[in-house]
Amino acid sequence: MPPEIIKGLKDVYLDTTTSSFIDGQEGKLLYRGYNIHDLAEKSTFEEVIYLLFYGNLPTKQELQEFDDLLRANRRLPDEVIQVLDLVKASHPMDALRTGVSALAAFDPEVTDNSTEATIRKGIRLSAMGPTIVAAHHRLRQGLEPVAPNPDLNHAGNFLYMLFNEMPEQETIDLLDVDFILHAEHGANASAFGARVAASTLSDLHSAVTTGIGVLKGPWHGGAAEEVMKMALDIGQPENAAEYCRNILDNGGRIMGFGHRVYKAEDPRARHLRERSRALGEKKGQPNWFKILTYVEDEVMVPYRSRGIFVNVDFFAGSIYYLLEIPDDLFISIFALGRIPGWTLQCVEQFEDNMLIRPLLEYVGEMDKEFVPLEERG
Ligand code: ACO
Repeated sequence: MPPEIIKGLKDVYLDTTTSSFIDGQEGKLLYRGYNIHDLAEKSTFEEVIYLLFYGNLPTKQELQEFDDLLRANRRLPDEVIQVLDLVKASHPMDALRTGVSALAAFDPEVTDNSTEATIRKGIRLSAMGPTIVAAHHRLRQGLEPVAPNPDLNHAGNFLYMLFNEMPEQETIDLLDVDFILHAEHGANASAFGARVAASTLSDLHSAVTTGIGVLKGPWHGGAAEEVMKMALDIGQPENAAEYCRNILDNGGRIMGFGHRVYKAEDPRARHLRERSRALGEKKGQPNWFKILTYVEDEVMVPYRSRGIFVNVDFFAGSIYYLLEIPDDLFISIFALGRIPGWTLQCVEQFEDNMLIRPLLEYVGEMDKEFVPLEERG
C-alpha cells in the first residue's frame, strides 16, 4: 500500500495550541480567546503582544511596565548597525533576516530555551525589529539611522525612525491596527518554519530568522506588495476586469485572494478595507480603493463559491502606499507584526517538544549499479 501523501500538509493538525483559534468556514479569528475584531478596535499592539506572551490582557500597571520594557530594548548594538550597513543593497526582508540573525551574537540568553528566556528574547526581538527595518532603510538611502524615540509607542517610533519626522496620530493608529492584525495566525507557513527550527532545540533567533525567510514569498507575506503593483498596473477601475481576466485566463492568481484555512472572508481584511477607503479619501487618492473594490466586488465574485475571498494582504498594500512607505518594505511590516506570534509558537514548541520530521515517499530509481568515475562516459 503506498503511503497517504498529504501535499502541503493541508488540513493536518500538527499539535494543540492556546495561541489563536481560526474558524476558516465562519471567518473567525481569536488570539488567546479574544476576538480579533475587539482587539483591532479596542486594544493596542503593545497589549496584544502582552496577551500573546502571557495569555491574559494586562492591567494598566502591567501594560505600563511591559511598554517601558519594550521601549527600553529598542536600541541595536553598534555591530548590528554595521552589519546592516554591509547589506544595505539587499531587500529589506533580507536585511531584517540578517539583522535578527546577527542579534543572536549579542543576546546573553541566546541558547536558553526556557519559557521565561524565550519570552524575554521575544520582547527584545519585537522591540528591536522596527529599529532594524528603519535603520536599513536609512542606510540604503545614504542616511544615518535615527535613534529610537522613547516618547513614542511601538508603531509611532517605527514611523519616526523610518522617516525622521514626527508621525501624525492617525498614521500611528493605522499602523498599530495593522500590527495587531498580523500578530499571530496559528500554524501558517512562517510559524510552521519557526516551529520546525524550534523542534530541533535550536533557538528563538534561528526560529525567527527562519520565519522571516518563509514569510518573504509572494504566496505568504509578499502578497500585499503584489496587490499594490497590480492596482498601479491597472491604473483605472475600468481597466480592472480585462487586466484580471488576462491573469486568470492564463492560470494566474489574483494576489490578496484565497487562503489555505479561510473559505470565507478573512476577518482581518474588514479592518483594512475601511481604513484603506478612508485614507484614500483623505489623501485625495480614492482611485486605489475603487480599483480594489472593483476587483473584489465584480471580477472575483464567481470565486466566492470556491471559498476564495480577500485575505489580510488585499487592502494592506494600498494603506502602506498611501502612507508613502516604499513597496519593498511592505513584507517587513508584516514581519514586525508577526514576531510575537512566532515567539509564542516557539514557546509552545519548546514546552512540549517533539522533533518535527515528516517523511517523503521515494519515487526514484532503486539499487542502481555504481560506476567508478573513470569508467563513466
Ligand atoms: N486567484 C485565483 N485563483 C486562486 C487564488 C487566487 N488568489 N487562490 C487560489 N486559487 C485557486 C487555485 O488556482 C486553485 O485552482 P484549481 O483547483 O483550479 O487548481 C484553487 O484555487 C486552490 O488553490 P490552492 O493553491 O490549492 O489553495 P491553497 O489553499 O494552497 O492556496 C494560497 C492558498 C497559496 C494563499 C492561494 O490562495 C494564493 O496563491 N493566493 C494568492 C497569494 C496570496 O494572496 N497570499 C497571501 C495569503 S494570506 C497570508 O499569507 C497572510
